[in-house]
Amino acid sequence: MDARKPKTLEELIKMLHQIFESNSINVEEVQELMEAYKSNPQEWKKYAIFDQHRYTRNLVDEGNGKFNLIVLCWGEGHGSSIHDHSDSHCFMKMLQGELKETLFDWPKGEDGEMTERSHRILENNSVAYINDSIGLHRVENVSHTEGSVSLHLYSPPFQTCQVFDQRTSHKNVAQMTFWSKYGERTPFQCPAPKENN
Ligand SMILES: [Fe+2]
Repeated sequence: MDARKPKTLEELIKMLHQIFESNSINVEEVQELMEAYKSNPQEWKKYAIFDQHRYTRNLVDEGNGKFNLIVLCWGEGHGSSIHDHSDSHCFMKMLQGELKETLFDWPKGEDGEMTERSHRILENNSVAYINDSIGLHRVENVSHTEGSVSLHLYSPPFQTCQVFDQRTSHKNVAQMTFWSKYGERTPFQCPAPKENN
């Protein structure tokens, strides 16, 4: 187990690069490392670009092709669809505020309502983990007063995922887009289908 503690976001990113050089990933090790970083808004505020209408995805680092590290900004009441993670690992660390994560079972067919398995509140600095064998989830900022910021690591990186309609179990493919990259707003592109994570 890696006992070193990243003191800054920059140090965390360096350590993540080292860990992901290996082809076999120890989920607990990554989770503990991300948890050990104590959120300092000064270090990530350049990536935290909010939109008033929906949550944003802001690329921080491309992890040498092994992972994507993304800051997500959730305004009051913003939430994702129910989605999968395209066979990747997904780590989600809280940087500010709280998020509600609701877990769902994979639907058995495209017929009928999806069953909610459980839900929990992710508190600041905690790290959640999910992959497709665990199930599907929806993530929401249920606060009426505070924006939330979370740091997501996806490995391997992916460009599309599946989104699900809770009432019917119908699924669609959604394209992942970035609101900003490396702290710079990305140029406007043609409207894409709903993005998720
Ligand atoms: Fe997700």
